[in-house]
Formats: sequence, structure tokens, C-alpha cells
Amino acid sequence: MNDTQNTEWTPAGPCAMVIFGANGDLTRRKLVPALYNLRESGLLSQNFAVIGVARGIDEAAFRERLREEAKKHLTGELRQEIWDWLAGRIYTVSGNFKDPEAYTSLKQALARVDEERGTEGNYLYYLATPPSFFSEIPRCLQEVALTAEEVGRWRRVIVEKPFGRDLESARTLNRELLSILDESQIYRIDHYLGKETVQNILVFRFANAIFEPIWNRRYIDHVQIMVAESVGVGTRGGYYEEAGALRDMIPNHLFQLLALIAMEPPISFEADAVRNEKGKIFSAIKPIAPDEVLQMAVRGQYGEGVMPDGEEVPAYRSEPRVPAGATIETYAALKLMIDNWRWADVPFYLRTGKRLPARCTEIAIQFKRAPFVLFRQTPVGHLEPNHLVLRIQPNEGISLAFSAKIPGPVVRIGDVDMDFFNADYFDETPATGYETLLYDCMKGDAGLFQRGDNAEAAWSVVTPILDVWSALPPRDFPNYDAGTWGPRAAADLLRRDGRAWRKL
Ligand code: BG6
Repeated sequence: MNDTQNTEWTPAGPCAMVIFGANGDLTRRKLVPALYNLRESGLLSQNFAVIGVARGIDEAAFRERLREEAKKHLTGELRQEIWDWLAGRIYTVSGNFKDPEAYTSLKQALARVDEERGTEGNYLYYLATPPSFFSEIPRCLQEVALTAEEVGRWRRVIVEKPFGRDLESARTLNRELLSILDESQIYRIDHYLGKETVQNILVFRFANAIFEPIWNRRYIDHVQIMVAESVGVGTRGGYYEEAGALRDMIPNHLFQLLALIAMEPPISFEADAVRNEKGKIFSAIKPIAPDEVLQMAVRGQYGEGVMPDGEEVPAYRSEPRVPAGATIETYAALKLMIDNWRWADVPFYLRTGKRLPARCTEIAIQFKRAPFVLFRQTPVGHLEPNHLVLRIQPNEGISLAFSAKIPGPVVRIGDVDMDFFNADYFDETPATGYETLLYDCMKGDAGLFQRGDNAEAAWSVVTPILDVWSALPPRDFPNYDAGTWGPRAAADLLRRDGRAWRKL
């Protein structure tokens, strides 16, 4: 393989990263391992520091705990010299996010790392906290003059998901953040955009001339986007009861996949060029009227069941911190139409759920059938349409299904696959999926982050569904067994259109 990439990977500039919610899972499992990997690849500045902010946090104990966790969450062996480099740059500030004193202490700590580590007043604030703090923390930072940028000193804020819980709350959050920060300082994270295979969608579409001419309603019958998870809600019942499958996955992760598949070629890979095109797709999605919701959207909740490996698992309603009569959905499927010249009449079917038989994220593009004409006089009974499948995870790669002649004296047709696996061509570099996102933020490249208007546009598509669902509580939950592919109504959603979900 020839490497045609000419982008230079240079270390990010000096900066201090402040993690709010440093005692949480995300810091241990993703953020610190990602920083370790960035250091190992030489992409962190020598002038770098991390400050963990949380209640009752102790520096020595924090470092030790992160080291133990890093050993578990790094893909390779922990290399002592890399860890020592990073650990020597880890600081803590103990305090409550609502307490002004915590911010005064933080300001002092930042002044100290600027001095000790040469971080030059560039600060990246990572809000790994519950959403109720997303605007409060920036406001408190503003009060101690830690948000304003000056020439040569940047201040950026990474906001974790969920960014709002419906259109109204997303608007409010945007308004609050924009009263404190400039849009260019706000990095709304969606960890799906950190996945290599997701980033590859644009390269696949626009670095290859052969797909673009057929990437439209003339050749494509429909598109299926699936994010299937085999895990249940585990210990996250409390969060999940507030969210549900639709809020948790669709306006963010699945919509990012949808936008990358459906968008027009941007004029460049500059952040706003890409985000403008994504925004056009969200605005072109045909709004779903309240009386169409039950036709266009399906919800489900898992009951107890047996997973393919034989494990017997409990129903959602028996998971920790889930009430016995819970009505929140653990499965959602939608049919969306994009009203533009490229996609008019091409349905996009989206589905996601927990406790499905496999963990699998993929986008399947089904092309229109070839006319049967040629094979009328032969025993060929049925022609399968061509499929192009982009496998996001696992078995990352791309495959194209087409028909071929089965060798023999009569014409018989079989289905075959042309398969590309990333692993056959590229070395696997250890990654948590957060490396590129953190690196880009340190470099000031917001291309892989959501812009405020895009987030609102996505919420405006799903909010009517949420409204109808909350007004009409489900009467048939649980309606799919753990270890199966979701409720029957989801199969009906496609059957009504003469189609079926792709079988794995
Ligand atoms: C998170 C959701 O954003 O994405 C989780 O809150 C979900 O519920 C997870 O399990 C899936 O991410 P991944 O990278 O494992 O596909």
C-alpha cells in the first residue's frame, strides 16, 4: 500500500488540560489512556500538564489510581518512561464545581503549571461531568477570568454528551454557552467522530472517483444504519432512565453517520466547510408530523433472555436503578427521508438497541436491482441487489456484495463478496478513540466536533418523536427478548415498504 497522506503530524502546542469530573469513569478509561497514547506517538507538547478537578481528590492517590487503570485500559504494555512523563505532569485541584473557591484554587494551579510546565496560558477545559454543570462551570471560569482569550492564549471547552435532551434544552444550553464563550471556543464532542472508520467515510466517498456518480437516488434503493449493542444498561440505569435509546444514540452518533453518508462534497476539509454540509442534511430531513410518528418510528425494551453465548440476562426492568414498570426504550428504529435532489424518495432506516445478539455498527447501502430481462430464459429465479457495507466496528472494513456465475453448464447465479478489512492493510495503533479528538482540540481544529446549530438541527428532527412517545406511554413493554434483533414492529417498519433489515 502506498501512503498518500501528506498531512504533517506535529506535536500540539503548549497547553494545560483541566478535567472537571476527574474521578469519573471517562477520565480513567479513555482520557488518560488517550493522553498516554498521544505522548507515545510524540503528539503532546513537552509543555503539557493535566489538572484533575473533583471533590476530595488527592494528587498522589489520583496518579496511582490512574496508573492502575491505565494498565487495564491500554491496549499494549504500559511503558514506564511514557507513564512517568505523563504522571509528572498530573496535578489536582480539590473542590466542588459550584464553589467559587474551587475556581480560585484552579486559577492558582494554572498559574503554577504555566510557570513549572511552560503551558503558556493555553487551557483546554474538559467537562466530563453531568450535563447540569455544562453551563455552570464555564460561567464560574468566566468569573475568575479564565475563559477570555488573548492574543497567543487560547481557552477551549470540550462539552461531553448529552448536549441537551430535546430541542428546547439544546437551544438553552447553546444560548448559555454562547453568552460566555465564542462558538470557536466550544467543542461539542461525539466520540463516534473519533473512530477511524467513521473518519474514513469521507475519504472513501471523496478520494475515490468511482462511487460518487452512483451515490444518489438513481442507483441507491435505500440506506440502513445500525448501531447494535450486545451489552445491557449495566450500572447506568439511573442515566438511562432519563435518556433512553433514542436520545442516547440517534441525534448524535447515528446522525453523524447519516450526515457523512448523505452530505454533498464539502469545498474543503476545513471544519466549517464540512459542518455546513452536514447542517444542510439535518435541515433537509423531512420533519415527522405527530400523526406520522407511530408509522415512522418504533421503540422497544428488552425482557429477559439468552444471549448467543448462552448467558442468561435479566430484563431491563430488573437492572439496577431501573423501576419495575419502566417505560423508557432500549431500542429505537426510524425511517427518515431526506428532501433534496440527491436523496428524494430514498429511505434511510436507522436502528439501535441494547441486548441485541451482537455488537455491530455498520452502514449498508442497498443499490437498485438490475433488470431481470437477461436471465428470463434461464433457471435464475431471483437477482439479489448489490450492497455496499461500511463496517464501522468490529471487523472494521468495507465489503461489496454482487452476483457471480456459479461455475457449470447452466447459468446459475450466486452471491459473492469483495471484502476489505482494515487490519489486512494497516497496523493497528492502540487507540481509545479520543486521541484524535483531544489532539485536534489542542490544535484548534473543530472539524470533528459538533457545531451548535448542527446539534439543534439534529434535535429538531427527533423532538417530535420524543414528544409523542412521552405522551403515549408504551403498553407492550418489554417487547423483545434479550438476545434477539428487536421488536416485531421494527421488522414491520421495513416490511411495509417491501424491504427487510439486513441480516448479519
Ligand atoms: C455512548 C452511549 O455515547 O455510546 C452508550 O451513551 C453506548 O449507551 C456507547 O453504549 C456506544 O459507544 P461505542 O463506541 O461502544 O459504540
